[in-house]
Amino acid sequence: LDNGLLRTPPMGWMAWERFRCDVDCKDDPKNCISENLFRDMADRLAEDGWRELGYEYVIIDDCWMSKQRDEHGRLQPDPLRFPGGIAKLARYVHDRGLKLGIYADMGTHTCMGYPGTTLDKIEIDAQTFASWGVDYLKFDGCHSNPVEQMIGYPRMSKALNATGRPIAYSCSWPVYVGGLPPNVNYSLMGEICHLWRNYYDIQDSWDSVINIVDWFSNNQDALQPAAGPGRWNDPDMLVIGNFGLSIDQARSQMALWAIMAAPLIMSNDLRTLSNDARAILQNKVAISINQDPRGMQGRRLLQEKSHIEVYWRPLSNSASALVFLSHRQDMPYLYHTSLAKLHYDPGSYEAYDVFTGRTMTGLTHTTDLKVSINPSGVVMWYIYPTKHKRFHNTW
Ligand code: GLA
Repeated sequence: LDNGLLRTPPMGWMAWERFRCDVDCKDDPKNCISENLFRDMADRLAEDGWRELGYEYVIIDDCWMSKQRDEHGRLQPDPLRFPGGIAKLARYVHDRGLKLGIYADMGTHTCMGYPGTTLDKIEIDAQTFASWGVDYLKFDGCHSNPVEQMIGYPRMSKALNATGRPIAYSCSWPVYVGGLPPNVNYSLMGEICHLWRNYYDIQDSWDSVINIVDWFSNNQDALQPAAGPGRWNDPDMLVIGNFGLSIDQARSQMALWAIMAAPLIMSNDLRTLSNDARAILQNKVAISINQDPRGMQGRRLLQEKSHIEVYWRPLSNSASALVFLSHRQDMPYLYHTSLAKLHYDPGSYEAYDVFTGRTMTGLTHTTDLKVSINPSGVVMWYIYPTKHKRFHNTW
């Protein structure tokens, strides 16, 4: 959606994958879906260096609502778990230089059975969110049919615009109609939404991460051209820092999400994150590749018989990013290639290894590259043409 918001993919934190629909604040007060959880995460984003790196959205997911709308037909938060209300929580988040996101569902109920936004409630819900100071809406699609979705998703886009408040709009519509053309019209998605979920929910496992990556790559001809500044494919949350991924697998998710120009929205516990997970999520070069202003989504270039895959993303200033991904399970694999084999133009280059911090100088397109890739791991390079002194002297 071309209205100035999300010119680069959104970054932040979202409750769902890690905290789900835990509403047991009596026995699990630290982890239940409540204003305390979102305040805790806002504190961590503001105090632990995340905000400065771009992680700015704190996003409430399902299960925040009261089971009843109020006497004016407005959504309201669960009074026991959000006693201060959403407007107060938004102020808390804003006071820390962050933005607040919220969740609603185009349909009769949310996926977990809380009040949905039927067609007649779209305007009132948009107004309510704006009046609370919400900055981002995730609009899910459980419990509606394709005809209602076809009317409802564009209508919510108009309703958010009519509030006059800049509100980023994340649409789950494609998931509910299969994720691919002709059922999904991606140019329409780009006109009405800033980002959209294309595929199934991520889970805390390598199986889930790699299944998502495979689906996006197998369908990249349909998906990759849909992305650009203000319109992003969303392969779902970063699960780095939870229980399911090894360090190598966590690097793989970070690298591939950067290549895919995906939202960097973590769902983890920022209060107890390991230093390894923190270092991966706070990797400045991976983030800058993800946030490249040109906003072109990358592609899978090669699938080798050795089960090595090569991904490539063109960046601004003639730079680019390469990711070598190993689908192997045996041992580090030594992959031989050259920039020429990866379709780079003749010339001289330098490369920065994103996870080791090593710089390789004096490369040309024909230099033999030997890349050692761990099982279910990646090697990620930021590549740029060498600047010749000769060139600078002319100016
Ligand atoms: C759907 C969405 C998830 C999450 C849940 C909440 O499954 O895809 O991201 O929002 O609903 O119930």
